[in-house]
Amino acid sequence: MKVTVVGAGAVGASCAEYIAMKNFASDIVLVDIKENFAEGKAMDLMQTASLNSFDTRITGSTNDYSKTSNSDIAVITSGIPRKPGMTREELIGINAGIVKSVSQQLIQQSPNIILIIVSNPMDTMTYLTHKVTGLPKNRIIGMGGALDSARFKYRLSEALECPISDVDGMVIGGHSDKGMIPLIRIATRNSIRVTELISEERLEKVLNDTKVGGATLTGMLGTSAWYAPGAAVSSLVQAIACDQKKMFPCSTMLDGEYGLNDICIGVPVILGKNGIEKIVEVDLSESELSNLKASAEAVTKTNNLLTDLN
Ligand code: LAC
Repeated sequence: MKVTVVGAGAVGASCAEYIAMKNFASDIVLVDIKENFAEGKAMDLMQTASLNSFDTRITGSTNDYSKTSNSDIAVITSGIPRKPGMTREELIGINAGIVKSVSQQLIQQSPNIILIIVSNPMDTMTYLTHKVTGLPKNRIIGMGGALDSARFKYRLSEALECPISDVDGMVIGGHSDKGMIPLIRIATRNSIRVTELISEERLEKVLNDTKVGGATLTGMLGTSAWYAPGAAVSSLVQAIACDQKKMFPCSTMLDGEYGLNDICIGVPVILGKNGIEKIVEVDLSESELSNLKASAEAVTKTNNLLTDLN
């Protein structure tokens, strides 16, 4: 199993580290445009192998995509991250060109590859990847919901003062501060709905803290977060590499599901060796559906900016 991670910045490197630590891949290739940067990160990570007991080979490449040939999965993290006060949508001008060129180069080397998109604005970058590569829709996956759901569970456990392993919950919709939809109504602690355990007022805070999860960290760190994004991507890669048939909310091209068409947005999917093996249609309440519709309208607006960029 060969995994390529494009972008050896904080998110890409964390993602490579978590994949290596889980020890399911034979090879990871880190690619970056900065001379020797990916090679350096790869060497540093390889020097943790004896300490962390993994056998995955990690190599680096300065923009030489021939080193990525015959990859099974690639993660695209390249582009610029948010600075404090910026929205993910503001990154479109720079990141669209980068994601387009990276995805095309990856496919040239590995025609059967499955692509996981992390670069922001993520839903629009996932949509763009569909348009420029023409890959079947099961082979393009946008990473957002898995991260947002992890942040949601963190906030729920904080409110419940309980371990995170007691909590289950999911965030659907666009990967943006306004577009995320934490499904509070069906979130649980050990099968008990959190709505029975947490006051409405406290749940409102959970909802808001979850939605600005990325922005909060960008304000604290001066750039966008990396541990949780890296860990979320590594879980998606593992689900595909190990054919786990696990469910995650991911950005996927919709073709009538949830009443939406020609848009990539976060909904629950089953991930296995073929990438997205199924889109799961949850019975949403009227207000959740109308939030999803509003979130989709915002994503479409950002998608439409791609035409102007062309
Ligand atoms: C975040 C970035 C990865 O939410 O979008 O931290």
